[in-house]
Amino acid sequence: MKNTNSTGNGSKSNHSSKKSSSNGTAENGNSTSMESSQLMKLFEDELKDIYWAEKALIKAIPKMIKNATSEELIDALENHLTETKEQVSRLEQVFESIGKKPVSKKCEAMAGLIKEAGEIMDECEEGAMCDAGIISAAQKVEHYEIATYGTLRQFAQTLGLWESVKLLESTLDEEKAADEKLTEVAMSTVNIGASQEEEVAGEE
Ligand SMILES: [Fe+2]
Ligand SMILES: [Fe+2]
Repeated sequence: MKNTNSTGNGSKSNHSSKKSSSNGTAENGNSTSMESSQLMKLFEDELKDIYWAEKALIKAIPKMIKNATSEELIDALENHLTETKEQVSRLEQVFESIGKKPVSKKCEAMAGLIKEAGEIMDECEEGAMCDAGIISAAQKVEHYEIATYGTLRQFAQTLGLWESVKLLESTLDEEKAADEKLTEVAMSTVNIGASQEEEVAGEE
């Protein structure tokens, strides 16, 4: 990352590159302090993004529940809605632990995934096919969250923010479990039902 080449003639003073970090994070001094303050900024930006995303999901999941038919799918979504509310408060604890107010910033990626889920539900009739569509949309959401929380946990680890690591890891585990549960639901009920529906339609 750092240019270590010799500067040769007309070398400029390096003093200007020494920005001071003012965000109160642990500083190990000299060369690493700038990198860690930049990483801290990235960490905060990503936190704001997922904070928006989780709050958007609290509004979006009930619509999925309303459109779902399989009891198992409804249970899985209801359970994850409860977890999602807990995840929002966990994120607020992360903000607090780094001395920041919780702020959200629109996450375009999650907005797109939620929009796509809405379109799938608008286009299908209730039943196994619609359930399969809901599962596919929900799993895309889970994978986005798994990627984000995995990154956030890694950033927190690098920054030595141990309380954040713990909180983010709890949520990461929930997201992974939610994804696995959806796979289970798809395999046990929904996909079978959807293919039977197709068969019946084909026979008519
Ligand atoms: Fe979540
Ligand atoms: Fe989730």
